[in-house]
Amino acid sequence: MTPPRIRPRFYITTPIYYVNGAPHIGHAYSSIAADVIARFKRLDGFEVFFLTGTDEHGQKIEKAAQAAGLEPQEFVDRNANAFRAMARAINLSNDDFIRTTQQRHKSGCTALWQKLETAGAVYLGHYEGWYATRDEAFYAEDELVLGPDGIKRSPYSAPVEWVRESSFFFKLSAFQDRLLALYDQNPEFIQPASSRNEIVAFVRAGLRDISISRTSFSWGVPVPGSPDHVMYVWVDALANYITAMGYPDMQAPRMAFWPANLHLVGKEITRFHAVYWPAMLMAADLPLPCRVFANGWWTVEGEKMSKSLNNALPVEPLIAEFGLDPLRYFLMREMPFGNDGDFSRRALINRLNDELANDLGNLAQRILSFIAKNADGALPLHGLMTEADFLLLSHARSLPGRVRDAIDGMALHEALDQIWKLVRSANAYIDHQAPWALRKTDPLRMAAVLRILCDALLVIGVLLQPFMPTTMAKLLDFLAVPPNARDLAALESALTDGSRLPTPSGLFPRFVEPA
Ligand code: MSP
Repeated sequence: MTPPRIRPRFYITTPIYYVNGAPHIGHAYSSIAADVIARFKRLDGFEVFFLTGTDEHGQKIEKAAQAAGLEPQEFVDRNANAFRAMARAINLSNDDFIRTTQQRHKSGCTALWQKLETAGAVYLGHYEGWYATRDEAFYAEDELVLGPDGIKRSPYSAPVEWVRESSFFFKLSAFQDRLLALYDQNPEFIQPASSRNEIVAFVRAGLRDISISRTSFSWGVPVPGSPDHVMYVWVDALANYITAMGYPDMQAPRMAFWPANLHLVGKEITRFHAVYWPAMLMAADLPLPCRVFANGWWTVEGEKMSKSLNNALPVEPLIAEFGLDPLRYFLMREMPFGNDGDFSRRALINRLNDELANDLGNLAQRILSFIAKNADGALPLHGLMTEADFLLLSHARSLPGRVRDAIDGMALHEALDQIWKLVRSANAYIDHQAPWALRKTDPLRMAAVLRILCDALLVIGVLLQPFMPTTMAKLLDFLAVPPNARDLAALESALTDGSRLPTPSGLFPRFVEPA
């Protein structure tokens, strides 16, 4: 008997989303990027745990509930459902969905607080300074920016207020040297370079202890032993990455996934993930995550999404109009991962028609319908290899390694670019080999050409599964690939000579703007 394969573990997280408003394309983007990586790692033989969820405490949520005329719990229940619905709508393969109002989270979070306290990293003091509720962040005077109206705002343009209250503090200042050593010894800990530079400069400039409890409102996890304090929402929120795994029970089966391999975060929240979170973990004597990667921001048709412009774009109507997989493809392809970019309807339609319908859809359709009509609907056999065959096949065989490198390097757009090189080579090959002309003159060569094309299509279909799971499942069905032979390890044996191929249909309909 062969021993069971021991699979390496991979734990990936999305930020947990604030439930003060409705989910939009920016949230979907973070989640889809994490989903692509999670699905790729599964394909590559890893045992993956993929966590997402919602951030439901804090002053911002309490205010939003008041404005909606609801009790906070009722308000967060309703909005968390909208985020769960978004996760389903974008076909997220998450293994769990944590809500910070769940008891498992509150208990884990309380235990973490106690651990920090026992370690001597927490003390009671008095906070006086600026706070931006919209960012849920404290700011030093020199971080504020003066708006055109002469009013001070946060670096993210949120209004700030002067807060003066009794507060617990976390001894962040004690961790400055250890944090700098961490960044120094692990250059990949924070990426991309722009975020890394910003964080290193921030920590080098000197760290102050941070306020980690509030007394002026009550919607939060109570501080153990001091019920008039609630925990600062970021302490509560960051803890989700371990409470979901069963913390404080270090023997909980899921705790084997800790430390996380990757926290995917937006570029505006790197400070919390790359400074506060590792310092808290150091204080609690827990292992540190391996990598924090900051993704960029989308504007929509050239405008920043905002409540005041009322232009936050929900995903459901886009999915209804264009289909989910084209939308997932567009989001991963349009902007280099880590950069900012603009979401425009025109750009989406162009990519859908040029790259999906034309390049890939036509390629699949030409091969599969030709086999259905002229090769008895069965997977053709290899023939004698020509140089052109060899070139296309070796291109296909080297592709998984290149895609793996791109994904491990967080260049998700580059992974697609690499796959499209093969799509284009396969299109050039079919034009050049012209199997339609071989039908009468050399049927064996026609079959051999079609088979080489199926081999290439298989690699394309397998590698694109993380990006477009539903459509690629359909493509692999058309190639009669058994469901258990769709990962990278099975690539060489996924196709069976002569197997019956189901009748193919189009993968990506062209989008025609309604008149
Ligand atoms: N609740 C915190 C995260 C806590 S993690 C322990 C939070 N929530 S958020 O809902 O405001 O943002 C969640 C994520 O969505 C962030 O990574 C943010 O960058 C991302 N996006 C929100 N708007 C976005 C765009 N317009 N474009 C791309 N991503 C954006 O921060």
